[in-house]
Amino acid sequence: MPETIIVAGVPGVGKTTILQELEAVAREKNVPLKIVNFGNVMNELFKKQGKEIHRDHMRREDIQLQSRVQEEAARKIAKMPGNSALVVDTHMFVKTTDGMWPGTPIKVLQALDPKMIILIEADPEEVARRRTVDTTRERESKSVEEARDDLHWSRYMASANAVLAGVPIQIVHNRDGQLRQSAEELLKIIQKRY
Ligand code: AP5
Repeated sequence: MPETIIVAGVPGVGKTTILQELEAVAREKNVPLKIVNFGNVMNELFKKQGKEIHRDHMRREDIQLQSRVQEEAARKIAKMPGNSALVVDTHMFVKTTDGMWPGTPIKVLQALDPKMIILIEADPEEVARRRTVDTTRERESKSVEEARDDLHWSRYMASANAVLAGVPIQIVHNRDGQLRQSAEELLKIIQKRY
């Protein structure tokens, strides 16, 4: 069974971009690594239930439905085969219409059984700007203040997760123009752990 690492970051921090770069760096260095996007797995499960929704709209669905799909996604990810490290690209919290909701509540955390949590962060100004210029996604919070609040929420939730799972937290900064360095740093952290 693969060992799981949770990689989380607020929307627009560049988590998916950095993980794409990580995949490329790992391939070049022959480091076996599998990356799975939690939102994609949830989106497929929604589809299976006859709900074809845009990934940015899932968080507006009924919270109980989201919760069921979230747990199912975690169980599905936990059953993924392989022996290499499994990087789960997800969120510490999701902004639902009911309020801030944990991305990895206890049942999800238990199913994933992570060995480490890595937070991708950037300066609030950079996050706000990335959210504004990224026209491919629907992002509601675009101010620097909102980005700063989200970054704080991410750390609060990560702390709770680390206490419950008894695992360390690492922070990797995704600075403008330094994608490669950030991906290499991420790979080093993962390799040190495995
Ligand atoms: P997800 O797919 O994770 O969506 P997201 O949070 O919007 O993440 P993105 O991938 O769009 O943003 P990102 O931060 O990775 O930024 P990006 O790399 O695109 O999740 C989708 C949905 O799934 C969630 O909303 C939720 O409903 C659900 N979900 C997921 N996990 C869940 C869970 N555990 N429980 C319940 N629901 C869950 O980059 C943004 C922009 O910045 C791009 O234009 C990029 O080019 C630019 N950029 C990035 N890095 C740099 C850099 N270093 N320099 C310059 N530009 C950069």
